[in-house]
Amino acid sequence: MKILIAASEAAPIIKLGGLGDVVGSLPKALEKLGVNVAVVIPYFPTAVVAGLKVYKSLDLLVPFNGESHKVGVYATKLPRSFVDVFLLKNDDFFSTVGKTASLGIRSEVEVFSFFARAVVELIKTKFNTYDLVHCNDWHTGLIAQLLQDELGLERPATVMTIHNFSYQGIGDARTINEVGLDPSVHQMVAWDIADGDVNMLMQGIASADFVTTVSPTYAKELLASTDEGKIFDVLCARKDRFIGILNGIDYDAFPRPLDIMTYQVAKESAKQSLLTKLNMTKDDAPIFSMISRLDPNQKGLDILIDAIPEIVSRRGRFILLGSGNVEWEEKFKALSVKYSSTNISINTVFDPELAKQIYTASDFFVIPSKFEPCGLTQMISMWYGAVPVAHSVGGLRDTIAHGKTGFLFDDYSAGALVRALDRCFAIYKSQVHSDMIEACLKVNFSFDKSALAYKALYEKAIQLRQDAFVAED
Ligand code: GLC
Repeated sequence: MKILIAASEAAPIIKLGGLGDVVGSLPKALEKLGVNVAVVIPYFPTAVVAGLKVYKSLDLLVPFNGESHKVGVYATKLPRSFVDVFLLKNDDFFSTVGKTASLGIRSEVEVFSFFARAVVELIKTKFNTYDLVHCNDWHTGLIAQLLQDELGLERPATVMTIHNFSYQGIGDARTINEVGLDPSVHQMVAWDIADGDVNMLMQGIASADFVTTVSPTYAKELLASTDEGKIFDVLCARKDRFIGILNGIDYDAFPRPLDIMTYQVAKESAKQSLLTKLNMTKDDAPIFSMISRLDPNQKGLDILIDAIPEIVSRRGRFILLGSGNVEWEEKFKALSVKYSSTNISINTVFDPELAKQIYTASDFFVIPSKFEPCGLTQMISMWYGAVPVAHSVGGLRDTIAHGKTGFLFDDYSAGALVRALDRCFAIYKSQVHSDMIEACLKVNFSFDKSALAYKALYEKAIQLRQDAFVAED
């Protein structure tokens, strides 16, 4: 079985968020199962390739908007594996992309339409030997349709994974023409662009052989959503081909300085050095922390900011590590000034080393997300023995056992969050707390389990494709 995973990022080469982590971890777990898997991503200037052997392998000629564009294919390996990563380089389309992958001159939708076209050309150049293309998020939404056009009956099978339904890649319908899709042969495209916009995620959902998302609960939530929009109709129409497969984490990326025998001493000393480093009051108060992209639509920042004063008034410490929305960065900073920075530490930076120290030193880890397709930080915090406190949605609900490996709260409100935090204060340093930490340290969310589920799905999709090939031939 030969698989190509297409995405906008793959950690550690390019990582903007959880998507990058998954695209960096899943192939390694698949490789362990004997799957022949490669990854393709754009070669943005932000790519970190120091220490990697990057080999310029070939040039593609990619048709787009009536012109032929040269795309350099650079090959490297995903660190600590034999997984090939193809980096697609084109200074016009993939050059000025910054941290948020957005451009001034070209819209993101145009950039990733071009990427989709380049991926299809790569597949053709590789003699169309991939059995399946695994697309991820809206950036790759046009690949399945283009494969159908270019390779027809002989196209690889396709899977589309939704990592976050709230990003759909909506843009000018002009891009459909530029990328070379003919609406008169693609009814879904014609229906979509009738309003002048294309929805890239919707196209991916409509055209892939199978659609997945990153937790079973998020899959259910999406199907049950009462929100309006064509995309919900399309998803519901595909419900027989739609499943949730829980993500895992790559434990190799998180070496931990503690285990079930040593955690008490290790956490205590990590706590003292972290408090010193962050200039916080050193005492026996519980540490609550949060490490997150600061996205006010998703990450529950509004209820968190109301709950932080309650943590402080109960003599707890709060530590935040994360950046993103500038307005919210400022709001959190203002709070730490108001309530004394010896109690609250706000760190709006990207610092993986500090992240590890925070995970190790924390007693509790707060994840108030309004919605969470899967979430990875709860799995990481458990691994380091920081008990998660989370809103009971999506993947948080699927990974945290309430009262055993964390606390879940149902209502999305500061009040419900504070009540959950009160339970933390109540068990702090008790036998219940130790039992919960030990239960956290024992759970295993390794990607191996998810990889088995993906492998089974790939087999099914490839089989269906072959059946269709025989039937249509
Ligand atoms: C997105 C989602 C997050 C998920 C990640 C990886 O970042 O918001 O919940 O864990 O993708 O699938």
